[in-house]
Amino acid sequence: MLLVRDPEPLDSSYIPEKINLRSREIKYINQNLVAPLREGKGSTLMAYGNSGVGKTVTAKYIIRENSDLITVYENALSSSSLRQVISDALMKMGRINTVSNIGFDYIFKTMKTLSLEKKKNILLIIDEARNVVRSDPEGFRSLVMASESYGFGLSTMLISIENPMIYVQGDLIRPGYPVFMLKFSPYTRSELFGILKERCDQSLVESAYDDVLIDFIAGIAEQFGSARVAIELLQKAAHLAEYRGGDYVSSDDVRAARAMINPFFTESKLSELDAGELIALLSICKCIGSGIRTNVSCVSRSAAQLREEYSMPRIRNFNLYRILRKLENSGLIESKIIGLGDRRGVNKVIEINDLPVSVLSEKIQSLIERLL
Ligand SMILES: Nc1ncnc2c1ncn2[C@@H]1O[C@H](COP(=O)(O)OP(=O)(O)OP(=O)(O)O)[C@@H](O)[C@H]1O
Ligand SMILES: [Mg+2]
Repeated sequence: MLLVRDPEPLDSSYIPEKINLRSREIKYINQNLVAPLREGKGSTLMAYGNSGVGKTVTAKYIIRENSDLITVYENALSSSSLRQVISDALMKMGRINTVSNIGFDYIFKTMKTLSLEKKKNILLIIDEARNVVRSDPEGFRSLVMASESYGFGLSTMLISIENPMIYVQGDLIRPGYPVFMLKFSPYTRSELFGILKERCDQSLVESAYDDVLIDFIAGIAEQFGSARVAIELLQKAAHLAEYRGGDYVSSDDVRAARAMINPFFTESKLSELDAGELIALLSICKCIGSGIRTNVSCVSRSAAQLREEYSMPRIRNFNLYRILRKLENSGLIESKIIGLGDRRGVNKVIEINDLPVSVLSEKIQSLIERLL
């Protein structure tokens, strides 16, 4: 039976008509970033909060609602530098660069010309900004000061999971340059219920769900405070129900969906890893291969080989044990002690249980290549 009548609201890129639960955040962004920008005054806003709390959807909503500005959205997850992100943004504004390796000065001057030509101010949104800001504090400073230094309306919203100020030194930005902080809090169960209810009403046939089911999903997603987890569970459960030919989405469909998603595996999680940590994780994937688990000595050998391959043999602070602890804390790997059989002692093994190793390997490889 057809249960999903409109799949779009279940898709992670869907932007709802209204984002009621983030009206406080939207108002804050409008007051501190958008309204001053309309007057030509640039400022910077750092939005942060856990995965799935609505940072990206709020940013995209702001873009949709402000067509009188030149708005550009950039996801910096796999960009090698802040300069690359901003020059990409320039390209999206319609400026094709013929010069290679352009600098900040060229970029901001070109942006100014563009802004004056079009008589519009520029709002730049950089999502997953953690790594590019952390690796280039000087560039970050130029960006914050660009509006004043070059004399045109440019505001930037940077989005990341942690408060980015922990890796930007406090005195980097002279007082007087407006930098705002905005934390997105985890959603409560009843908020998640509301978000799910709306998506159900928009996408499923009426007989496919009820409040008990929605509350069941909200209860699972509550531990992460994440609307991403909530909606993904709903989407997968609905498809599973349809696939098995059910008349409605059952709690067992939700359980099966729960087993399919790993809420810790988001791009954001990987973006928190540095090159050494990515190498270690890739080594684990390689050692596991098509098997079930691996051990530290295989990972250590494979990591040495990979560091050689990527020409980073002297990667700073490559301490495998510290890295393994971090990967375990972030939920990307699990380690266990298992017996080796009769009197042969025990061994520490490493497993990846929640996602296909092949998918993870590919993602990591492309991230490493871009970090180099
Ligand atoms: N207040 C809300 N109302 C309706 N839908 C929401 C709300 N907040 C988040 N969502 C939905 O939840 C999903 C996750 O939100 P979003 O992608 O904005 O999270 P995020 O904070 O950017 O997470 P990440 O750090 O993992 O990128 C999206 O499908 C989004 O549409
Ligand atoms: Mg996001």
